[in-house]
Amino acid sequence: MLRSLVKRTLSTNNLICSIPSLILYYAAFASSLTGKQGIEATVLLTWKASLHNQSQTLLSSWIGSNHCTWLGICCNKACRVAHIDLQSYGLKGTLSNLNFSSFPHLLTLELLNNSLLRDHPSPYW
Ligand SMILES: *[C@@H]1O[C@H](CO)[C@@H](O)[C@H](O)[C@H]1NC(C)=O
Ligand SMILES: *[C@@H]1O[C@H](CO)[C@@H](O)[C@H](O)[C@H]1NC(C)=O
Ligand SMILES: *[C@@H]1O[C@H](CO)[C@@H](O)[C@H](O)[C@H]1NC(C)=O
Repeated sequence: MLRSLVKRTLSTNNLICSIPSLILYYAAFASSLTGKQGIEATVLLTWKASLHNQSQTLLSSWIGSNHCTWLGICCNKACRVAHIDLQSYGLKGTLSNLNFSSFPHLLTLELLNNSLLRDHPSPYW
């Protein structure tokens, strides 16, 4: 399904996050990018705004700019998104508005059991 997936070993600082039984390991492509925390929050809010109404309600904690405290978001010590775990929240929408290039520190992405479709071909998948 996700041809770009590679396995990575979880480092110790990831243990603050809950580790789901099945984790999709996501390799950041744009390692040369130096996106900032504010960009990460903005990208997440952009994606949230693209989701169905009810899904936006489920992500009600996604407000402001302190995205490290948001539901399903886990940051590393540098406050950069390291894990996104939104399994089984019943989110509906697409992934086409989620710019993965903005998360160069992302290690795992867990989106099982949602209804997130890909409505446009994306270079990231
Ligand atoms: C969300 O639902 C409300 C009420 O049903 C509607 O007015 C609004 O346009 C909806 N927003 C989106 C983004 O679909
Ligand atoms: C899928 O998510 C729904 C809630 O959105 C939950 O009720 C259901 O148990 C989940 N199913 C699995 C197989 O995890
Ligand atoms: C995605 O994010 C990267 C890094 O922040 C940025 O350079 C690029 O323009 C963004 N792409 C889109 C379609 O917004």
